[in-house]
Amino acid sequence: MRLDKFLSVTATATRSEAGKAARAGQITVNGAPVKKADVQIDPERDAVCYCGTPVCYKQYHYVLLNKPDGYVSATEDGRDPTVLELLPPQYTAFGLFPCGRLDKHTLGLMLLTDNGDVAHRLLSPRRHVAKRYAFRCKFPLTKEECERFREGLVLEDGYETKPADIELNADAHSGVITLVEGKYHQIKRMLEALHNQITYLERISFGPLTLPADLPRGAWRELTAEEEQAILDAAK
Ligand code: URA
Repeated sequence: MRLDKFLSVTATATRSEAGKAARAGQITVNGAPVKKADVQIDPERDAVCYCGTPVCYKQYHYVLLNKPDGYVSATEDGRDPTVLELLPPQYTAFGLFPCGRLDKHTLGLMLLTDNGDVAHRLLSPRRHVAKRYAFRCKFPLTKEECERFREGLVLEDGYETKPADIELNADAHSGVITLVEGKYHQIKRMLEALHNQITYLERISFGPLTLPADLPRGAWRELTAEEEQAILDAAK
């Protein structure tokens, strides 16, 4: 792989920045400065340093994003901004896509990846990967309604949901719902089946990943090595 491509796919530098840095002697390959960024390197074996910092090659990328209101979980949309637009352009170039969908007005944890196999496994209904949502609803929920929720509900299209957990706060209007499946508008439709209405929905965890308290709305970061391993384990 060309050095400038390597620096671009690792989100280190654009090709023109790489050219300038090479001419300035700021890139080393296996300890030796290179003068041009179009040299060939082996991304798996060669040790590249950019401005003194080692650059790691990653075949796949995993991004954790705190989805804000109004963004759609798609790679392209003619009308609304997409979650991909919250990432720098290099990430779009990797071919990242959202692993599962959140509705336009749902907030919180989204995983984006370019590893189609892992995404497919995490979303497979057979794996029962748990997703937790903080919610608020229009009318108070009764104990009996929570029980129906836990047993599984029949939605308006006749689909019978798998049992879902619900922890209700003392106000009876809010709490945390845990799903092990991800049908279209599932929580909204489950509440509608109880003649109620969701007024706030935020995903707070997805499998082993938890929405970090210090990640502002609209912000993102790559998974830590531990989080990445946990996601790969959950997808086994
Ligand atoms: N259930 C919903 O209704 N919406 C979401 O975004 C996620 C789960």
